[in-house]
Amino acid sequence: MIELAPSILSADFARLGEQVRAAGEGGGSVIHVDIMDGHFVPNLTIGPPVVKSLRKATELPLDCHLMIENPDEFIPAFADAGANWISVHQEACRHLDRTLHLIKSHDCLAGVVINPATPVDALAEVLEIVDYVLVMSVNPGFGAQRFIPSTLHKMRRLAEIRGQRGLHYRIEVDGGVALDTVADVVRAGAEILVAGNAVFGNGDPKKNAQVLLKAATEAAMQRV
Ligand code: DX5
Ligand code: ZN
Repeated sequence: MIELAPSILSADFARLGEQVRAAGEGGGSVIHVDIMDGHFVPNLTIGPPVVKSLRKATELPLDCHLMIENPDEFIPAFADAGANWISVHQEACRHLDRTLHLIKSHDCLAGVVINPATPVDALAEVLEIVDYVLVMSVNPGFGAQRFIPSTLHKMRRLAEIRGQRGLHYRIEVDGGVALDTVADVVRAGAEILVAGNAVFGNGDPKKNAQVLLKAATEAAMQRV
């Protein structure tokens, strides 16, 4: 099943509750929350207090994408604040297996993320543990960047490995997903589509979400 995960990075932070509701009315079914620490990525965003407020503003699952160093130090705080899904970067984790189990111990779905320069092979030993794999299709840190097409083969490869090994993780894509790229990512096997600028950048988030989800669903029908 295809799901749209609107990323609040491009939303109006002064009207977050309202914007998240609009994106949900347009069919967004997971809210993607980008957490940046100014070290792992060259940008700063938000922490647990904002997640806690979002938790009151929506019943949709909160997908917290941690672009931070030492994620183990903060996972309990994000879980307590109301995160439902937590993903960590392979590149940021010295003890990835331990970190993924830490996420699960807080009753959250556990995801692992790979940057554009990181191969799928780097995840071979954790694919059995994770609930989802997030393929970055831009270098993390900012919204509204250009989609990197060479990441598509990683979505295909993850779908192939899942079949071969009889695993159940879902495949998420993040970065540059918009009307001109959505069919490609869906055909490559992505199932959870993060979109920031395409939903919140211009115009009405509800309408933008509807149009993007429709294009994604049509591409998924062509896939089968
Ligand atoms: C980038 C973030 C993304 C970002 C995507 O580092 O992880 O979630 O919000 O934004 P768009 O959809 O605008 O590329
Ligand atoms: Zn993200």
